Amino acid sequence: MVSIETSICGVRLVNPTVLASGIVGVSGAALVFAAKNGAGAVVSKSIGPREREGHNNPVLVEFEGGFLNAVGLPNSGVENTIDEIKFAIKHSASPVIASIFGGTKEEFGLVAERISEAKPPLIEVNLSCPNTASDFGMPFALSSKDAAEVISIVKDNTKIPVIAKLAPNVPSIKEIAKAVADAGADAISAINTMPGMVIDIKTSKPVLHNKEGGVSGPALKPIAMKCVYDIYESVDIPIIGIGGVTYGKDAVELAMAGACAVQIGTGIYYRGIEIFKKVSEEIKEFLQEHGYDKLEDIIGIAHDE
Ligand SMILES: Cc1cc2nc3c(=O)[nH]c(=O)nc-3n(C[C@H](O)[C@H](O)[C@H](O)COP(=O)(O)O)c2cc1C
Repeated sequence: MVSIETSICGVRLVNPTVLASGIVGVSGAALVFAAKNGAGAVVSKSIGPREREGHNNPVLVEFEGGFLNAVGLPNSGVENTIDEIKFAIKHSASPVIASIFGGTKEEFGLVAERISEAKPPLIEVNLSCPNTASDFGMPFALSSKDAAEVISIVKDNTKIPVIAKLAPNVPSIKEIAKAVADAGADAISAINTMPGMVIDIKTSKPVLHNKEGGVSGPALKPIAMKCVYDIYESVDIPIIGIGGVTYGKDAVELAMAGACAVQIGTGIYYRGIEIFKKVSEEIKEFLQEHGYDKLEDIIGIAHDE
């Protein structure tokens, strides 16, 4: 029997499919539900320093290549979310990763410190949400200096391993990956959504209330592929691939580019919550059919000469 077990910074996952941040709502129960349905790990909705309403509707629209969203990070703030994370950790058979964000670098540190009380095995730092601006009017992940400073502050405020979640729309993702790794990131998630827009030709206006949003789903996959491939060449820390994973073959492709696990978001809209079990089965079938013993055998093999 082939093995699809994997690990991220010493945290063991029975399979490499991980629920992506922000997809199934904010409650601990929703995270437990995804774990029960086969996710090898689950990531919480990004948690910020205080309650935040998010953008007005419409916040999500489907197009031929996937979805465009601008939910605007609605969340109930770290103080009100600690218990949800504790609940999820207690009831989930799979590791629960807490995702955090801040409006300033210092806020990332505060949220990291507070959420660490819930003792998640890993913290994912959302440096890259395209729908909220930092002090500088753009996501921290767009500048290697700012991204590194955020990671360094987070590391000063927690002993829990930290995953830096990067954005695709940068001139050199290799440079950003190196900067966050040098600042102490223990792993990298790549990628968040890509900025985009959908216009309704009947009204002649952008569909989303926020006008622009983030592209997710199949259209994002080749972009994620190149990012993961480039990051694998520039750093030696684990990479979690994200973007358009819908079938086992998508996960296999990201693993070959260098990912040790994959996150799944939009795929849930297409294949339901069973997607984690289905993708896991499809990865196993691929490995078996092609004579591999384990997932590890294909991680990064696209780089072999
Ligand atoms: C409705 C929606 C909400 C999201 N919220 C978050 C979030 O709170 N934090 C975050 O880091 N990423 C968030 N994302 C981005 C996803 O975690 C993921 O990076 C992206 O959707 C690409 O993966 P996919 O193609 O599998 O959906 C969100 C995506 C969607 C579609």
